[in-house]
Amino acid sequence: MRVSYSSAALLLNGAFALAQSTNGTRVTCPSTSKFSAIPASKFFAEINPGWNVGNTLDAVETEGSWNNPPVVASTFDDVKKAGFKGIRLPVTWAYHFNSQGPEWKVDEKWLQRVSDVLDLITDRGLYVIVNVHHDSWTWADLTQASTNVTAVEERLAKLWYQIGTKLACKSEKVAFETINEIRGTTAEHGKIVNRLNNIFLQAINDAGGYNPQRVVTLVGVGEDAVKTSQWFERPDAKFKNPWGIQYHYYSPYDYIFQAWGKTTWGSEADKASLEADIAAVRRNFTDIPLIIGEWAASPVATETAARWRYFDFFLRTAAKYNTATILWDNGADFLDRATHQWRDPVALDIYRNAVKGTPNALPDSTTDGSITKQQSSAYIYHKKGTNVNDTILPFHFNGNTLKKITAPNKALTKDKDYKVAGETITFSASFLATILTPTAPTGSLANLTLSFNKGTDLLVNVLRYSTPVLGSTSSALPATSADLLIPITWAGQNRPAAVKAVKSDGTFLVDDWTQNLPELQRGRMTYNGQWNWDGSHIIIKAAVLDAIRAAGKTTRFTIEFYPREEGNSVDYTITV
Ligand SMILES: *[C@@H]1O[C@H](CO)[C@@H](O)[C@H](O)[C@H]1NC(C)=O
Ligand SMILES: *[C@@H]1O[C@H](CO)[C@@H](O)[C@H](O)[C@H]1NC(C)=O
Ligand SMILES: *[C@@H]1O[C@H](CO)[C@@H](O)[C@H](O)[C@H]1NC(C)=O
Ligand SMILES: *[C@@H]1O[C@H](CO)[C@@H](O)[C@H](O)[C@H]1NC(C)=O
Ligand SMILES: *[C@@H]1O[C@H](CO)[C@@H](O)[C@H](O)[C@H]1NC(C)=O
Repeated sequence: MRVSYSSAALLLNGAFALAQSTNGTRVTCPSTSKFSAIPASKFFAEINPGWNVGNTLDAVETEGSWNNPPVVASTFDDVKKAGFKGIRLPVTWAYHFNSQGPEWKVDEKWLQRVSDVLDLITDRGLYVIVNVHHDSWTWADLTQASTNVTAVEERLAKLWYQIGTKLACKSEKVAFETINEIRGTTAEHGKIVNRLNNIFLQAINDAGGYNPQRVVTLVGVGEDAVKTSQWFERPDAKFKNPWGIQYHYYSPYDYIFQAWGKTTWGSEADKASLEADIAAVRRNFTDIPLIIGEWAASPVATETAARWRYFDFFLRTAAKYNTATILWDNGADFLDRATHQWRDPVALDIYRNAVKGTPNALPDSTTDGSITKQQSSAYIYHKKGTNVNDTILPFHFNGNTLKKITAPNKALTKDKDYKVAGETITFSASFLATILTPTAPTGSLANLTLSFNKGTDLLVNVLRYSTPVLGSTSSALPATSADLLIPITWAGQNRPAAVKAVKSDGTFLVDDWTQNLPELQRGRMTYNGQWNWDGSHIIIKAAVLDAIRAAGKTTRFTIEFYPREEGNSVDYTITV
């Protein structure tokens, strides 16, 4: 049976007539299927905390194209075991259309794959949000002058009608999300996105089955907190779907993406700014369920103590403003899917406890970027060739009581191996000398586990380091730009902390404005976009070589390592 709707408002706003989303067929679900309607607020509470199966079905052009093989059931077991209650399943459809408009027929095999993955998730009792993902980079990119908005509306309707048809009889544990991070910059884009939410709702309602009662997460421009707050409007009241708003949070940009040498986080100002962001969205939408569908502070990019403090504060703040969260994991960040190991188990423990409202003890760390040495109580750093001394590390117990400290092979003896004064722990030189033996290599030698009466256990990584050595210290600017791989022999924490680039005239190669930043950030470039590393190289990106060519000036790179302190860096010069 066909159910038709009309909406004067929509027809006035959009050139596209909503009735086109259906070919007239509505799914009737078999009596063996089950659906028990729930409000969006309950869905969001039930999926919290959630985990993104990132860079997988959303990969361009298809599953397996990026860094992850096709997802397997055991990954969802790993995620459930870690305490996550639901999954966001990003799916890119752009490369799975078998025909052009007006049908926009989606490959049945791809629809089946998505349906099968959803079943793997819900079979484990997990909730799931499925979406239209990197289509927002291609046919649905509103910022491209060539984009025909009417065509985007038509195609999104056809797409969601087919997804809605395929998934019509899935249980209430399956929710839909209009589209991921659709690009836009103007209020006009805001109006288009509001219309796309309505078109999406129309299409899934037309598809029938349980879809008219299904939870949906609607979006604003870019799924960005500010643009969503500015321009989001409620959907047409004729749709009866329980709905909430999904937005994403990767802020502050410099800390999360390791731009401009920002390796610290956690000052009062940092916290106030994060809370102001989350509070502002809640203040705008007091009666609407909210979910942050992507957020992360990746162990690949960020300093450990700062990251644990960020996890704790971000999650408590989200909870304070009744906002659910779903962690982004691109496959290289948190879960090593092949080995089933979590790369940062403490961060997960902080997550579980923060979501429950249990306080976590946390390491202290430098939050003041104007000093020149960065301290971190997640490590006992020992410089190779120096004495093994008593090491004093401050913590924030947050009301918890330290119960014991264990090394891999023994429990430490209080007042002999360590002493506690207030929230400061002193590890004795005699104990540390059992790990930091004269012949021990550089690198992580042991993790000490600090157990508290409640909340997360903390790890202190006993790590010996010396300054890494480069295979060469200079080269001429190559004639053509490709990424420059500089061989390096690592000796401690096998990654750089920051990379500074200064031209022969003393000015910075990129982002000259960083001269106004605190000392540890001046002249530093941005991780990934401008520099990177692997097991045996520092990588200077082609774009940086282009910048040297454009400037026509010999440039000196200072590659800094953890711990960030005077002298723990090496220089490399590219001459022109
Ligand atoms: C935009 O797309 C619509 C729907 O496909 C089509 O009717 C219209 O001709 C297109 N406009 C342009 C300028 O191509
Ligand atoms: C309508 O579209 C659905 C989804 O593509 C398809 O399964 C069905 O066969 C179509 N029905 C007709 C009558 O074309
Ligand atoms: C959100 O709040 C801002 C500032 O008060 C306001 O300008 C904006 O219109 C609000 N947006 C919505 C959707 O309520
Ligand atoms: C470690 O102790 C020695 C004396 O045993 C002292 O000379 C040295 O300055 C100390 N190093 C640090 C970093 O405190
Ligand atoms: C200590 O823990 C870190 C982070 O989990 C890990 O990378 C490192 O290998 C561990 N060190 C040892 C000696 O196991």
